Amino acid sequence: MNAQTITFKESTQKKQKPKSDQLGFGQVFTDHMFIMDYTEGQGWHDPRIVPYQPISLDPASMVFHYGQTVFEGLKAYLTEDDQVLLFRPEKNMERLNRSNDRLCIPHIDGEFAIEALKELIKKDREWIPNAEGTSLYIRPFIIATEPFLGVAPAKHYQFIIIMSPVGSYYKEGIRPVKILVENQFVRAVSGGTGTAKTGGNYAASLKAQQLAGEKEYSQVLWLDGVERKYIEEVGSMNVFFKINGEIVTPALNGSILEGVTRNSVIELLKHWGLKVTERRISMQEVKEAHQKGQLEEAFGTGTAAVISPIGEFLWEEDQMKINNGETGDVSKRLYDTLTGIQKGTEPDPFNWVTKVN
Ligand code: COI
Repeated sequence: MNAQTITFKESTQKKQKPKSDQLGFGQVFTDHMFIMDYTEGQGWHDPRIVPYQPISLDPASMVFHYGQTVFEGLKAYLTEDDQVLLFRPEKNMERLNRSNDRLCIPHIDGEFAIEALKELIKKDREWIPNAEGTSLYIRPFIIATEPFLGVAPAKHYQFIIIMSPVGSYYKEGIRPVKILVENQFVRAVSGGTGTAKTGGNYAASLKAQQLAGEKEYSQVLWLDGVERKYIEEVGSMNVFFKINGEIVTPALNGSILEGVTRNSVIELLKHWGLKVTERRISMQEVKEAHQKGQLEEAFGTGTAAVISPIGEFLWEEDQMKINNGETGDVSKRLYDTLTGIQKGTEPDPFNWVTKVN
């Protein structure tokens, strides 16, 4: 796809912005959105920024029937001196194209998509919240729009970017969450779609999530789909453990989502000279570490959740409290550093942030 001119139609009915300190997650959307079409033989075309609005689709659109869709999640931050920063957006566009590969969706031009995103952010700049712990969540996604009921890759798609001012993902904020270890359902297996960011993975997680919610657990911890022994990830986050001084996270194995925050956390921990290992880790190992008093911390990482300390796991009958249900030192340091880099208040030794303006 060649760089193309992005047209702009301004919204004539600007919406009321929510108060920065009363934001939840993903409930309100900004005044504009970006949209671009794909037609086989023509490629991606007609990039445009238009008023945020419902889209009209043929009921036979393939996305509704066979779930051919991918998405991303990233954030824009307002700095104290009124600049707008994006955190590693190229990583999201690379992952979007890896998800596209898996779902047989044509690649997008990642650089052009970032340019388009910057244009969109500039139009809706006033929507970026400034209260502590808030940001503008960005959701790029692609859907198969061809009306056809045969099972095949579609010939028409839409790439859309919408944006939402957000606070924290969990109602707990940055306080530790309680996680249920899932024994009945599985999320993904190697060779499946687990590493792709596609709606079906999340639809398949809802049942377990709902049952966990009924027991007052925020999310589930997924075990591997074959032996149901090895830890994969938490509902919407990657997961880390601190065991006897070593920080461990499950190695990417073909069924785990390759988180941008996960990668950033590993880089930061190494930079601080802490021992961090990507390897296979079983729930039994975590349980034994807990029994020996060596399970020092656990936390999830994700764009939406940032760093989310885990205060408790329930695995079958075993209730494991971690660090007395309090946020651990590593989790706290990671949260402060990462959000500091994202907000421009901490040095950015890896050049992770990109200025929008
Ligand atoms: C993100 O962290 O951005 C995600 O995509 C998780 C999400 C499903 C809320």
